[in-house]
Amino acid sequence: PPAVPQRIEEKRRAALLGGGTARIEAQHKRGKLTARERILLLLDPDSFDEYDMFVEHRCSDFGMDSSKNKYPGDSVVTGRGRINGRLAYVFSQDFTVFGGSLSGAHAQKICKVMDQAALVGAPVIGLNDSGGARIQEGVESLAGYADIFLRNVLCSGVVPQISLIMGPCAGGAVYSPALTDFTFMVKDTSYLFITGPDVVKSVTNEDVTQEQLGGAKTHTAVSGVAHRAFENDIDALLNLREFFNYLPLSNRDPAPVCECHDPSDRLVPELDTIVPMESTKAYDMLDIIHAIVDEREFFEIMPSYARNIVVGFARMNGRTVGIVGNQPKVASGCLDINSSVKGARFVRFCDAFNIPLITFVDVPGFLPGTAQEYGGIIRHGAKLLFAFAEATVPKITVITRKAYGGAYDVMSSKHLRGDANYAWPTAEVAVMGAKGAVQIIFRGKETDAEAEYVEKFANPFPAAMRGFVDDIIQPSTTRTRICRDLDVLASKTQSSPWKKHANIPL
Ligand code: COA
Repeated sequence: PPAVPQRIEEKRRAALLGGGTARIEAQHKRGKLTARERILLLLDPDSFDEYDMFVEHRCSDFGMDSSKNKYPGDSVVTGRGRINGRLAYVFSQDFTVFGGSLSGAHAQKICKVMDQAALVGAPVIGLNDSGGARIQEGVESLAGYADIFLRNVLCSGVVPQISLIMGPCAGGAVYSPALTDFTFMVKDTSYLFITGPDVVKSVTNEDVTQEQLGGAKTHTAVSGVAHRAFENDIDALLNLREFFNYLPLSNRDPAPVCECHDPSDRLVPELDTIVPMESTKAYDMLDIIHAIVDEREFFEIMPSYARNIVVGFARMNGRTVGIVGNQPKVASGCLDINSSVKGARFVRFCDAFNIPLITFVDVPGFLPGTAQEYGGIIRHGAKLLFAFAEATVPKITVITRKAYGGAYDVMSSKHLRGDANYAWPTAEVAVMGAKGAVQIIFRGKETDAEAEYVEKFANPFPAAMRGFVDDIIQPSTTRTRICRDLDVLASKTQSSPWKKHANIPL
């Protein structure tokens, strides 16, 4: 047999080739990069330290023990590296080896990096591209999935976990991305589903393509399973690097602070006229967000789903913040089932990872109707309320216009331990709009009570007089005020009563 150093070299070379040049070419022909090319793009140059390059699968059935069916490293590349100098653990499934399918060894490699990430306190990034459970290994691979799921759950709220779906991800495999904090997809080349089109046809007789069933468009716009989709592998990996910069490394880490060239006391004059005079006229909450945050940079999460609420990450004076805003442009910015769930999940991520929350409120209430009531708007709306109430990170709220009814309470109101709550002069804090209110109180009788109601409630004073907002501020000064508050609130500590865990309505 060849000498040891030579064998090491041969195995190393074989590992770097994965499933071989023909399969690499096939991967490229589909517009996909290989597992290793993806890692190189994601991480800083020369920062990748690989683990378990020599691990091989241990299956001996179906001829799997022949040397031509063994690949050093098996079907996943794992290790750690740096993104803009900050530590991250990664695994990248290698579709060129048995379709990236998950063997016992493959799962073990993933579990090893997850365990290390939890010990050290650094995020886990998974690049998924896999045909699912290694069919030849049967229950061994099912056990492997469960080992990963358990770690996903134990790491939840400890280190950020991000999944980027870059190929197939089907069956039980979908539950690892589903348990992570963020799931991103690549357009046209990735899909997620519990069962594929053939099974769907045989069970429900529906005709549906892979793309319709579980492509990026479906999951970013319809199901809400994925948080963003990108054009191709390169675009996705570069965006992932940018996204990573917003995140703390763990729940023990403060939100990162970047060097900031955008003055924290910058006035934003256009905000003084951005809210239309008629309270039924729409405007774009994104214009307000872009104008206020550092350098107009906003990394939106779920931009195509439940667009009546806007959530995402930005920086204020260099510090990462989570932004939540009602979007008057879509369904008047009302809260419904999907927007409540979208908002709640985002708020809970920020709270788990020490990211201050800034909430822009223009909400006419919850969306009425049987679809919403039958769908359980009561328990889903409760999620957003619960999330804001339990959050102990700095909470700053700006009411730009409507803050009506129960939705006023929900949207990070003073009553839910808001730290700084502001109203713009255009704010209206009331049980409902004047027309609806007068109809109910006077039951259609001719009356000029509408004017009285507007006078009484369609302005910021009733809330300000009671201390429910801390100040009525000139919109142009909003950025300055928020930056000053965040400086002060950086030392905020707050806790809730001891419990095993809370019981958020699900
Ligand atoms: N276990 C073992 N090998 C698998 C596999 C799995 N789950 N999934 C794919 N492979 C192998 C294929 O046998 C093929 O091997 P080869 O290159 O030696 O021919 C290689 O991976 C590529 O798969 P292929 O089917 O040619 O690729 P594709 O792009 O046409 O299809 C899938 C990809 C994922 C749709 C298809 O492979 C598939 O349906 N796989 C099974 C999915 C499944 O049911 N998994 C178990 C449930 S979790």
